[in-house]
Amino acid sequence: MINSITSNIIVRPVAATDNPALKQFVESVPDGGRVAFQPRYKVDDIERASSLLRPGNRGFAAFLEGKPLGIIYAWAHRVIYGNKEYPAVLLNGLSVHPDYRRQGLATRLLREALNWANESFGEGKLLVYGYIQSGNQGSEAACIGVGGQLSGRYLTVSPTRTLPDSNPTSPNLIREATKSELEGIATNLANFYGGYDFLQPQTTATLAEWLTPKEIEGRTVKLASYYIAQNSAGELLAGMGVFNGLVLFDLQIVKTSGLVKLLNCVLKIIPADGFLSPLPVSRVWYRDLIAARALWQSIRKLESSRGRTLTTSFDPNSPLKPLFQSGLAPTSKLQLIIFTKPEGATTTGKFLAGYES
Ligand SMILES: CC(C)(COP(=O)(O)OP(=O)(O)OC[C@H]1O[C@@H](n2cnc3c(N)ncnc32)[C@H](O)[C@@H]1OP(=O)(O)O)[C@@H](O)C(=O)NCCC(=O)NCCS
Repeated sequence: MINSITSNIIVRPVAATDNPALKQFVESVPDGGRVAFQPRYKVDDIERASSLLRPGNRGFAAFLEGKPLGIIYAWAHRVIYGNKEYPAVLLNGLSVHPDYRRQGLATRLLREALNWANESFGEGKLLVYGYIQSGNQGSEAACIGVGGQLSGRYLTVSPTRTLPDSNPTSPNLIREATKSELEGIATNLANFYGGYDFLQPQTTATLAEWLTPKEIEGRTVKLASYYIAQNSAGELLAGMGVFNGLVLFDLQIVKTSGLVKLLNCVLKIIPADGFLSPLPVSRVWYRDLIAARALWQSIRKLESSRGRTLTTSFDPNSPLKPLFQSGLAPTSKLQLIIFTKPEGATTTGKFLAGYES
């Protein structure tokens, strides 16, 4: 439906000068799934923060007389799909001001991002995809409306309370990886995820770049850490990365389902103030499940001073399930939606665990 207000709304790429207005906007519009999250920024330069989380994450926003009413991000990267490597764009961070919903704004934003992706990488040559939280009917309808196809494949997102600080004990040596170990880690990641779709290929260089401290607002911050478990012969047995985005922003839960509230009485994962202070875990692989479990427990302790929860996201059909699935932890489900696929690309049917920011 186009009315006189919506016809005056323009959709365009965001610029650095939009930062103050966009920060206010994104902090006032919660996500719309069963569990509603709201970002709380700790920096003013939210465009920089977004591109530190996902390098090159490109924003498009809808404005009415300079006031933001909606936003979407498009993150260009590369993925393996059907055992071949392709350019890919992840659509993320879609939200529309509550007073302007059901007027076609999400549709316009999605189209703008899709056009940019096709123009940048060539229609029919890239994979464009996104994730929708279960129960988010508006997002589902908007994405399907622009040609998105629900894949029926889900990621389980599981927050795990970090353990109080204490000395981790493990039969394996657990520590942060050194630069010289990155090559071995990249090889182990490639072996572990061999044949899985949506793998973001890692090399020594991409891992080193991820681990390099970054500049924001005149500060240099260490955002990522990579931990390994090693046996007494010096062999790598497991590895996991942790992203400390909390120097940039926190996530506050502003709405939960009754079931999650009930579970939380026992598990106490969601703090009373709603701030999850999550540290996402990524780039996970293992050769030895016992060592991986010890590594996971150790990281929960080692990172407990930085964040309140470690979050994992994994396909329950993947080998990450035995590592991360916990019978009790409240989980949310994200469904993969695919907007465009490269011509001739076919899925292997194996879906990579977790999106790796
Ligand atoms: C989801 C959201 C972005 C939709 O924005 P919107 O501008 O209202 O969407 P549109 O007006 O473009 O609607 C597109 C289609 O979805 C349908 N739709 C929108 N909201 C809906 C809802 N809550 N329930 C069912 N259908 C809905 C519209 O009717 C329309 O369908 P139609 O073309 O057949 O008429 C918005 O509700 C929002 O910002 N929610 C909170 C943040 C969020 O959940 N983001 C998504 C994260 S994955």
